[in-house]
Amino acid sequence: MSGPFDLAGRVVIVTGGAMGIGEGMVRMLAGAGANVAIADRDLAKGEVLAAELRADGLAAQAFAVELADEGSIIALAANVIAAMGTPWALVNNAGVQDRQLLLEGTAEEWDRNNAINARAPFLLTREIGRAMVAAGNGGRIVNVASCSLRGQAIKGLASYMGSKGALAALTKASALELAEFGITVNTVLPGGVGTPGAIGAKGPPAEGPARRMPALGFCEPSDIAGAVLYFVSPAARYATNQTICVDAGWSVT
Ligand SMILES: NC(=O)c1ccc[n+]([C@@H]2O[C@H](COP(=O)([O-])OP(=O)(O)OC[C@H]3O[C@@H](n4cnc5c(N)ncnc54)[C@H](O)[C@@H]3O)[C@@H](O)[C@H]2O)c1
Repeated sequence: MSGPFDLAGRVVIVTGGAMGIGEGMVRMLAGAGANVAIADRDLAKGEVLAAELRADGLAAQAFAVELADEGSIIALAANVIAAMGTPWALVNNAGVQDRQLLLEGTAEEWDRNNAINARAPFLLTREIGRAMVAAGNGGRIVNVASCSLRGQAIKGLASYMGSKGALAALTKASALELAEFGITVNTVLPGGVGTPGAIGAKGPPAEGPARRMPALGFCEPSDIAGAVLYFVSPAARYATNQTICVDAGWSVT
């Protein structure tokens, strides 16, 4: 296969790639020819997925990482580069999505959300960005935030939305500083997807206007993955600091 969405021979890291939306991204990117690094704290699940893809003739390898820990992120970047070469693309997908009502909010929950949802993408962008710049081949970075930034809020998301707002802002700052190296940085905003993380989210029950049914139904991981594939692909070389919201038409209901 060759064409504007062909990723043959290109290394792509997907954080949180062992399950949920990240797993959907890993499957689609590997299907497009990428050599995918599945970076997740659940190494066993990542290895099962990588083995399944390899059995299908695709390319994938699993790596352990604890994204709340800077040392683990630095080690992840070094391990992926040593094993697979300099990545073409980084997808900052992993996130936590537990809820806590604002007036009951704790510093711990704020810090946990921001460590995984915002600080980790910043640190990994720095580590992988340095390698991309040194290799001189350009690259792609995609940050996965949330449609809650576009008005689909439910109660209990102060820490989560704060962290996703920081991540969306990181896209703009990174796009500016990396453009001179041919590296694009973009944001994908998923709508509701029935993943292990969404179903198992701790905290008060979800309530509010965003509980309404989206116009097109509920998204699957592959729906979100399609937007990521576009931003990672050769076709998107002049798209940077842009946002695609895949919300099944929630914005028009
Ligand atoms: N599911 C939704 O409805 C929805 C909606 C909007 C945005 N999102 C965002 O999409 C992304 C993926 O969400 P999901 O629903 O697939 O989540 P999920 O919880 O189902 O899967 C997350 C994956 O990330 C890994 N992970 C979590 N914390 C980690 C850490 N500290 N270190 C290493 N790995 C870690 C988990 O092991 C898991 O494999 C998240 O950023 C989430 O905020 C999800």
